[in-house]
Amino acid sequence: MKKIKIGLVGVGSVAHWGHIPAYQNDPRAEITAICDINEERLKTTAEELNVKEVYTDFNEMMAKSDCDAISVATWNNSHKDATIAGLKAGKAVLCEKPMAMNAQEAEEMLKVSRETGSLLMIGFCSRFGDDAMRLKSFIEDGSLGDIYYVKAGYLRRRGNPKGWFADKARSGGGALIDIGVHALDRSWWLMGKPKPVSVMGFAWNNFGDYKTKGEVYSSDLLDEKSAFDTDDMAVALIRFEGDKALFLEASWAQNIKEGLGYQEVYGNKGGAKLYPLELYTDIDYNQVNIQVPTSQVILHNAEIKHFLDCVEKGEETIAPGEDGVTIMKILDAIYESSRTKKEVFIK
Ligand SMILES: NC(=O)c1ccc[n+]([C@@H]2O[C@H](COP(=O)([O-])OP(=O)(O)OC[C@H]3O[C@@H](n4cnc5c(N)ncnc54)[C@H](O)[C@@H]3O)[C@@H](O)[C@H]2O)c1
Repeated sequence: MKKIKIGLVGVGSVAHWGHIPAYQNDPRAEITAICDINEERLKTTAEELNVKEVYTDFNEMMAKSDCDAISVATWNNSHKDATIAGLKAGKAVLCEKPMAMNAQEAEEMLKVSRETGSLLMIGFCSRFGDDAMRLKSFIEDGSLGDIYYVKAGYLRRRGNPKGWFADKARSGGGALIDIGVHALDRSWWLMGKPKPVSVMGFAWNNFGDYKTKGEVYSSDLLDEKSAFDTDDMAVALIRFEGDKALFLEASWAQNIKEGLGYQEVYGNKGGAKLYPLELYTDIDYNQVNIQVPTSQVILHNAEIKHFLDCVEKGEETIAPGEDGVTIMKILDAIYESSRTKKEVFIK
């Protein structure tokens, strides 16, 4: 069987714990080319993977490499250009979250994907958990009725990843765009992707560097100088068509007892939460709580298996560029609402 040749653009942290093991785990894929601006990391990764094709410039990689598909796992400020270069070279692209620095960049990426017909999938890995997938199917088969309210949060007590993450010029934003994006995307997807109408948002930068010492999420980032000009916490209330609402919160730093992730959905026939998956409904006027057994899934393995299915069999992705654009529009609106102190309407 001819293998699907994979190029990796950005071979940092998530490439190492997420993308590389996932491609290695799937017999259909073979990593044939890698690119990174960090030459030392490029060299060690090439040795580790026994890859001969190495590049420091993704434009050169797209021009020369015969890889079929690429993962873009660079800092957020190069997602757009690396993705567009890949799409134009006829590669299928899996671009990490957040799709881009803002909605305008995301729309440019989507436009090129439509023009070229090349696949563009966004790395919304938190959709791929067995619990999230099962909850989605309960919602789709009507078991919970009409979902009108969702609450989700991804909160760290102290967990500022520093380096480029906390430098707006390279990240586009902080806790909201970094981890809030997972809670936002999973909520919106579970709700059936309703059209967003407006946002009331708050984003704060209260902690900066010094108070976050002791908890660092990316080991390679400590030497870098951070601007610390991003949010370290954000909250939003998002209104959707059909009178549906989402309450969202995200923090890298907050004076909370302990970090937590939560996902709750409320329908007129039943409610549910994740971690673990439980349903709340009533049967014959009795309130019942149902615990649903689920399997542990390595999210990037499931996400990349789906990406390879799309590349190999031409299947439609469940996380297309269109979804990335909507999520970026909501994120932009949260930041704008925080800045302007007003409700922001989304076109
Ligand atoms: N899905 C998830 O759960 C998840 C988790 C972590 C990170 N991410 C996303 O993955 C991306 C990378 O995050 P990370 O934690 O691996 O960061 P990282 O800093 O560890 O790795 C990024 C790598 O990209 C390289 N790079 C930067 N600009 C480049 C360019 N123009 N061309 C080539 N290489 C370039 C850097 O040198 C670095 O090696 C980010 O977009 C982040 O939001 C997603």
